[in-house]
Amino acid sequence: MDNSQNRAKVIDEIFAEDVRLGLSSSPKFLHSKYFYNEKGDKLFQEIMNLEEYYLTRAEYEIFDTHKSNLLQLFDQSDHGFQLIEFGAGDGLKTKVLLKSFLESKAEFTYVPIDISGNVLDILETDLKKTFPELQVEGIEDDYFRALKKLHLSGNSRKVVLFLGSNIGNFSKKQSIDFLKKVNVHLSDDDLIMIGFDLKKDPSVILQAYDDSKGVTREFNFNLLHRINNELGGEFDLDTFQHFPSYNPVTGETKSFLISKIRQEVYIHALDQTFSFLPWEPIYTEVSQKFNMVDVENLASKSGFKVKENYFDENSYFVDSVWGLS
Ligand code: AVJ
Repeated sequence: MDNSQNRAKVIDEIFAEDVRLGLSSSPKFLHSKYFYNEKGDKLFQEIMNLEEYYLTRAEYEIFDTHKSNLLQLFDQSDHGFQLIEFGAGDGLKTKVLLKSFLESKAEFTYVPIDISGNVLDILETDLKKTFPELQVEGIEDDYFRALKKLHLSGNSRKVVLFLGSNIGNFSKKQSIDFLKKVNVHLSDDDLIMIGFDLKKDPSVILQAYDDSKGVTREFNFNLLHRINNELGGEFDLDTFQHFPSYNPVTGETKSFLISKIRQEVYIHALDQTFSFLPWEPIYTEVSQKFNMVDVENLASKSGFKVKENYFDENSYFVDSVWGLS
């Protein structure tokens, strides 16, 4: 990059301050939401197609097996329903449901919400082509702000989808806080369906976060790429190592970037140098795994009742449908 481009670059101040905070903390951390720029979105699509990343296939199987049961559960009034999806991604799994619901002539609007406008545009264009009769009203925002934006006063039932074990990126406390906030915006009749990745053979889990093609590694390294590209960071990527871990007691699957050497890294936009000891980690992501007791507890702690659970054949994954009463 030449200097004129460098000067013209608009710095995302929030990203910059989050990086400053994270790299000044002990232990160091970077927030996993920063994986998802255009490159990160593409890498995550690739991850979802990996043999080792069983989550997507398991949830797809659940939807395919239970699509008519799900419609029965969702569509219980004359007013139809709003199918609101948090973190829609490419909507591949959701398409199974959309197709089946349309074929059954169900009356519903699909409201995908994603932090990435890029992903949302691609999804909406694709959906309009695949299902011309589908009513789509996408919202580009993060979950919390989108919740506020959603005018929840209409009289049709809300069915919120929070799929793909996206909830796993929250700590326990964050999930409870998040679900309590969702709860406040729902009425007695509304539903939320949440996808949870279940505790299983630890080696199966570890492989899903350390795939043989190294896509997940690249996904993790995208954080350092972004700091280099967007904040003038001087990270030498060869001096870091991708390290996933699984704690079978807590179910926490944590990913790290570990500095293989003692080093100092300067970040221009912050005008600050960060020191790394040999083998010092940057904690980058948690992907929480659950058992059914964990799921029940989370529901009750956030004011929900579990209505139905749908499993894949291996019981690798569950889609759990909750209501307020
Ligand atoms: C999109 C949060 C569900 O934690 O499994 C995939 C992201 N990270 N591989 C997950 C991810 C590494 C994914 N979620």
